[in-house]
Amino acid sequence: MADDVLTFAGYAGSLRKNSYNRMLLRALAKAAPAGVTIRELDISDIPLYNMDLEDNPPPSVVRLREEIRTADGLLIVTPEHNGTISAVTKVVIEWASRPPRDSVLEGKPAAIAGASTGYYGTVRAQAALRQIATIEEVYFMVDPELRVGRAAEKFGAQGELVDEALKAELTAFLDAFANWTRTIKNRRR
Ligand SMILES: Cc1cc2nc3c(=O)[nH]c(=O)nc-3n(C[C@H](O)[C@H](O)[C@H](O)COP(=O)(O)O)c2cc1C
Repeated sequence: MADDVLTFAGYAGSLRKNSYNRMLLRALAKAAPAGVTIRELDISDIPLYNMDLEDNPPPSVVRLREEIRTADGLLIVTPEHNGTISAVTKVVIEWASRPPRDSVLEGKPAAIAGASTGYYGTVRAQAALRQIATIEEVYFMVDPELRVGRAAEKFGAQGELVDEALKAELTAFLDAFANWTRTIKNRRR
């Protein structure tokens, strides 16, 4: 059924070539259940937010906004920097949310994941990201949370996920996100 097919737009808030958060995003894309596709957003050319450009944004921003707008849900995989989300994670949210009359976040089902090299797996960054839901009308899934600590031990040299327990967690997370997205979409009909 076409109604059961879901496309999620996903991005990792890191520009680093060997980003663990991008590895996690790609592992999630690979683990997607039947009927679910995760499209990775290219954020490499997204500039810092500048309100002067809001009425005539660069093509990279136009493309980004359209990809989020047309997706059934948004998957944000954020690093934790200085106890909060990275600037790269935030700049995407800024462009997506403006202008306010045309925010592509409004009403969007969304899920948060994150990987860090420390033990706590982006717990503070994820909490900070949730605050945004109180400003923008974005529907973040509450449970389960996906926090990957000690990321260097979880991925191999080619960026592949090597932790079997985590693989099972990814599947459960995506099943829950698919259900969450369907619930929000039906509620808003
Ligand atoms: C500026 C900066 C601040 C950081 N602050 C934290 C932090 O508060 N908590 C944490 O767990 N890791 C912190 N880290 C370590 C990151 O978890 C680590 O660099 C991780 O690899 C970043 O994600 P990435 O691999 O996707 O780029 C910080 C790293 C940087 C560069």
